[in-house]
Amino acid sequence: MPKIIEIGRVLIPQEALQNRIAELGAALSADYAERDLAIVAILNGSFIFAADLLRAITLPATIDFMAISSYANHPKSGVVRITKDLSDSLMHRHVLLVEDIIDTGLTANYLLRVLRERQPASLTVCALLDKAARRLIDLPITYRGFEIPDVFVVGYGMDYQQLYRNLPHIAVLHSRET
Ligand code: IMP
Repeated sequence: MPKIIEIGRVLIPQEALQNRIAELGAALSADYAERDLAIVAILNGSFIFAADLLRAITLPATIDFMAISSYANHPKSGVVRITKDLSDSLMHRHVLLVEDIIDTGLTANYLLRVLRERQPASLTVCALLDKAARRLIDLPITYRGFEIPDVFVVGYGMDYQQLYRNLPHIAVLHSRET
């Protein structure tokens, strides 16, 4: 049965995103003032958020990228395939894992395990969106942009079948069968 995909209401407008990211940048700049901050952004979903967040941070900070894709036969395990690994070592650095959205928490939990093995001095999570109601695993999210309800969202880097990443705001996506 064919599906109809529709972009629904704007959940978070562009201005609210930018205001909240400025606040997160100010908090990170204060908290990491004496530390060597290494941002690790998870591709593809976090690339726009990470770029804006980095520009809102007033300290010297590095950014590196890890790209992941989920295994089609284990979609609920949180175990992901690293399709592009980091370029630099994280050893003894203060690492901030930057994610677009934390849903069940399984992916971030797996990534934290992978990053911990690289022996950073500290490891902290920053997520733009938190679907807290769907969490399956307890996860410390130290820096959070917005808590959102259990809806599928697109825009500002987040996709549905690789589309809609270019929306400047975050919108709800509806899909229904015809
Ligand atoms: P989790 O392992 O269930 O926490 O899923 C995290 C990943 O699922 C995110 O990094 C996104 O790539 C994807 N995801 C979860 N919810 C949404 C959504 O509403 N829109 C787009 N991607 C989503």
